[in-house]
Amino acid sequence: MKKMKKRNMHAGPSLIRQSENRMKLDVQNIGKTFTLHNRNSVQVCGFSNVSFSVNRGEMLALTGPSGVGKSSILKAIYRTYLTNPGSILFHRTDGSVINLASCGESQVLNLRRREIGFVTQFLKVLPRITALQAVASPLVELGETEQTSSLQAAYLLDLLGIREELFHISPLTFSGGEQQRVNIARGVIAPKELLLLDEPTASLDEKSSDRVLELLMELKKKDIAMIGIFHDKGKIERVADKTYNVQREDSPVMTSSIQQEAA
Ligand SMILES: Nc1ncnc2c1ncn2[C@@H]1O[C@H](COP(=O)(O)OP(=O)(O)OP(=O)(O)O)[C@@H](O)[C@H]1O
Ligand SMILES: [Mg+2]
Repeated sequence: MKKMKKRNMHAGPSLIRQSENRMKLDVQNIGKTFTLHNRNSVQVCGFSNVSFSVNRGEMLALTGPSGVGKSSILKAIYRTYLTNPGSILFHRTDGSVINLASCGESQVLNLRRREIGFVTQFLKVLPRITALQAVASPLVELGETEQTSSLQAAYLLDLLGIREELFHISPLTFSGGEQQRVNIARGVIAPKELLLLDEPTASLDEKSSDRVLELLMELKKKDIAMIGIFHDKGKIERVADKTYNVQREDSPVMTSSIQQEAA
């Protein structure tokens, strides 16, 4: 099985066949051990033996107890962390496949610009940038006009329940939940083909959380593949197509589809 995948990565004609399938990301047996150099090189297990795949238009929810490695897995896919061993095969729309576990830094930066997005729990923007500008900027960077981008940003902020009086203020002054909604709007205004979401509804009330989930479901219809971390079972059942329960090395790993669980 593994051999076949490796061959496909390098063989020309087979790449065309891959572009016709629905696969977006194929994670095989990845692990991460942190070495704390300032603590006598103590080793901390981030996660190990993790394998799953995500198709276009599909949401995979990562579940598991605190500290089991869910956020670290997203960071490994985004290549904030290097992993060892295993492979993280990203299937591009042109049919080529890139191993995110081993590709070069410039390729990683290119993919982040256009194809892989990460909505973290915390908003990072420069001071003096307004909420509208913060949300519009990914669209402007893609070459869209300021006016169209601002209109789209205003639409999204409104959809997520941000009051209009806040649009022209720095989001750094916003409440935690408001900042999180600005962060989500920014992450989805020009949605990348694979979206990583680390607890996107963590500090939101029920109504705001509902709006975010609806937005994510719209993205699925646009064929965006997503991997999300949610702690609430109800939310997972609503938005996810399948779950991957991250466990410590000595426990068995389980994957299940939401439909199967409900049946
Ligand atoms: N940069 C790092 N350096 C050292 N250890 C780290 C680092 N990042 C994560 N870890 C360790 O890896 C383990 C997994 O952390 P991670 O943040 O991925 O867990 P999580 O499942 O997302 O937890 P939570 O649900 O609480 O957010 C933890 O034991 C953590 O201490
Ligand atoms: Mg986490």
